[in-house]
Amino acid sequence: MSTRDYDLVVYGATGFTGRQAAATIQRSGGELRWCIAGRNQTKLEALRDELGLGQLPIEVADALDEDAIDKLVARTRVLLTTAGPYAKFGELLIAACARHGTDYVDITGETPWIRDMMDRYHAAAVATGARIVPFCGFDSVPSDIGVWFMVQQLRERGTGTVLVRGVHRSKGGFNGGTLATAMNLAETGMDRRLSDRRLLDPPETRDGPKLRADPRAAEYSAELGRWTVPFFMGPVNSRVVRRSAALSGLWGAPYGEAFDYEERMGFGKSGLGARAFTVGLGLALGLLGAAWGRSLLKPILPKPGEGPSEETMDGGFMKVDLLAEGEDGTTLRGRLSAKGDPGNRVTVALLCACALSLVHQRDALPGGSERLGFLTPATAFGQVLLDRMRAEGMTLELTEP
Ligand SMILES: NC(=O)c1ccc[n+]([C@@H]2O[C@H](COP(=O)([O-])OP(=O)(O)OC[C@H]3O[C@@H](n4cnc5c(N)ncnc54)[C@H](OP(=O)(O)O)[C@@H]3O)[C@@H](O)[C@H]2O)c1
Repeated sequence: MSTRDYDLVVYGATGFTGRQAAATIQRSGGELRWCIAGRNQTKLEALRDELGLGQLPIEVADALDEDAIDKLVARTRVLLTTAGPYAKFGELLIAACARHGTDYVDITGETPWIRDMMDRYHAAAVATGARIVPFCGFDSVPSDIGVWFMVQQLRERGTGTVLVRGVHRSKGGFNGGTLATAMNLAETGMDRRLSDRRLLDPPETRDGPKLRADPRAAEYSAELGRWTVPFFMGPVNSRVVRRSAALSGLWGAPYGEAFDYEERMGFGKSGLGARAFTVGLGLALGLLGAAWGRSLLKPILPKPGEGPSEETMDGGFMKVDLLAEGEDGTTLRGRLSAKGDPGNRVTVALLCACALSLVHQRDALPGGSERLGFLTPATAFGQVLLDRMRAEGMTLELTEP
């Protein structure tokens, strides 16, 4: 039995995803000493009433109040945070987790910021035994666990992996918090670092062989019988997958000698439509990158705290087709599918599955005590997470060509 007060703290619980995470943890059952936390006592009390959480403890600590964050984290085994933009509100939490040996999960997609956090706190987290696992939402669990699964499948057939291509399809909406986070990346200039192909690699592999550039054009996939276009989360997900591959290589279980991962989005049968979409995506990203563009977009986009309707979230879905090539020429195809919109239903289910893996199954996680510091979802959780995802109704399996 831990001497800490909380097995799990749901931090940022009053936000759009945080509320859903609190409700999911409440439904998860099992013995758990947990609380909801954030910066606003009144909002936290209202949430506790709304979710019927009885006398569940509430902890108030502003993300920018170092002393309050330190005290809360010191009393916690696993911290789950949805307070974003993370580059604005996340550093003191990560620093405190690294200092106190507290495990950490989040749903950031802010790769440049995580690069900075790794540079500052990885060594401290290893020293205290903390597992710091960012990217536990739609960015980047489906890509990371999907690729990990395909690599296992090829390994069982006796070959390493040269390349996996992931092709996403999904239906859902955007949260105001996500848009605020994308805006913050652009406003701070961090978005310029997104193109670094090994942005998240450990120092030992940063100078490795050149990897593929992010897709920029529409392309027909003969295997899938449809057009594909650049996926805006590809530059994030591919860096996470590459970190998983790099860490696995350092631990003696390489994905492959010259492994790489590329991500695209599935489109329909129209090449013209796919090309037009690609041009439109470039324009939208250009608009986000320019100060005048952001000032045009801000008033018409959802605000922090807002998000899609219950109907949109329940009616959404996500699928990733995974096309893998082995070093011996073997090709395999797989598919990961989940019901619900990617940014909320899927993200929250994944985030809570990751947190509960750390709370209830820490001893069953891969690598034992040697996997510490900044990990990826695949390297931190592997099969434990896949089992939880399947228990939540998600599927990941090989498919016929
Ligand atoms: N990986 C994925 O697929 C995925 C999906 C969805 C969202 N996200 C990311 O998750 C984050 C949250 O998204 P969301 O839609 O839930 O956003 P949101 O509704 O705007 O929630 C933000 C949360 O941060 C809290 N917060 C803001 N400033 C704070 C401070 N100084 N101290 C403590 N808490 C503070 C807010 O508290 P108040 O309620 O008091 O304002 C709120 O609880 C964003 O960064 C978004 O990009 C990722």
